[in-house]
Amino acid sequence: MPFPVDRLRRLRANEPLRRLVRETHLEPSQNILPLFVVPGEGVRKPISSMPGVCQTSIDETVRDCEEALSLEIGGVMLFGIPAHKDEQASGGYDEHGIVQEAIRAIKRATPDLMVVTDVCNCEYTSHGHCGKIVNGDVDNDATLDWLAASALSHAKAGADMVAPSDMMDGRVGRIRSTLDAAGYSNLPIMSYAAKFSSAYYGPFREAAESAPQFGDRRSYQMDPANGREALREMELDVAEGADILMVKPAGAYLDVIRAAAERFPHPIAAYQVSGEFSQIHAAARLGWLDLERTMLESLIAIRRAGARIVMTYFAKDVARLLG
Ligand code: PBG
Ligand code: ZN
Repeated sequence: MPFPVDRLRRLRANEPLRRLVRETHLEPSQNILPLFVVPGEGVRKPISSMPGVCQTSIDETVRDCEEALSLEIGGVMLFGIPAHKDEQASGGYDEHGIVQEAIRAIKRATPDLMVVTDVCNCEYTSHGHCGKIVNGDVDNDATLDWLAASALSHAKAGADMVAPSDMMDGRVGRIRSTLDAAGYSNLPIMSYAAKFSSAYYGPFREAAESAPQFGDRRSYQMDPANGREALREMELDVAEGADILMVKPAGAYLDVIRAAAERFPHPIAAYQVSGEFSQIHAAARLGWLDLERTMLESLIAIRRAGARIVMTYFAKDVARLLG
């Protein structure tokens, strides 16, 4: 009905009405908090480009996990920074590597907390690339062995879910078959299915000490211009056994999240990455944006687009705010 019969302002008149007709909600239990684990004890080192985010040793990480559990957030996602990096990324699939030991400690202290692990090599290679370098580029098939070994070592340590973020072709299938053969057929894989080569990862590379020492990641991560190709990536990961499909980054790729949610019945996840987090903080520090409101709006947009699970550095803040 046209105006004046229909008046859309009618349903906006007061908060009880607005709450009643609200289409999307933030649920702290569907947010996952990324954590950066470093060697040592009692370490809590702030990351200058990510206000409030720290690199923490295992003992301090366990404290963060206890808090995460009490705030009832959806889980944590672990990234490890090893004491030594090498050409073979050996710290990534070491049974007693930093992430593997962190998983054990966390599951001992907070067995009910969902522990997801990022599976990639870039934190562990001396050159900072996500795989094995052959003739100046990342070799796809050789890298699959490292990824499968990493995922299996995380499973053995007690991880609840693995999340490969490397963008090698065929890695979901290889990880699935490796896990199955070792008796972990019930361990879910959340695939970073559509991961774009993004400037928004800048602050993360400080946090994870994983900036590539030469070149960039464009020969394996996706071109930001390609939405249709993202659907092919997701189709392949589904065929290889991915349980959850992730789009990353989130805010600048809401169209991809929406397309994924319409096309696949699988749960869709999105990663609100470091740069999305940092730019909100930076603008808030300058007094140009309101931190709380911008945080909530950025996250509601990701949910509205169709993401069920959101990786976000705001996970604790949201949980505290919405209680
Ligand atoms: C590594 C990885 C990256 C992120 C998650 N896993 C960085 C990259 O690909 O360079 C980015 C997360 C963020 O920016 O918050 N494969
Ligand atoms: Zn990587």
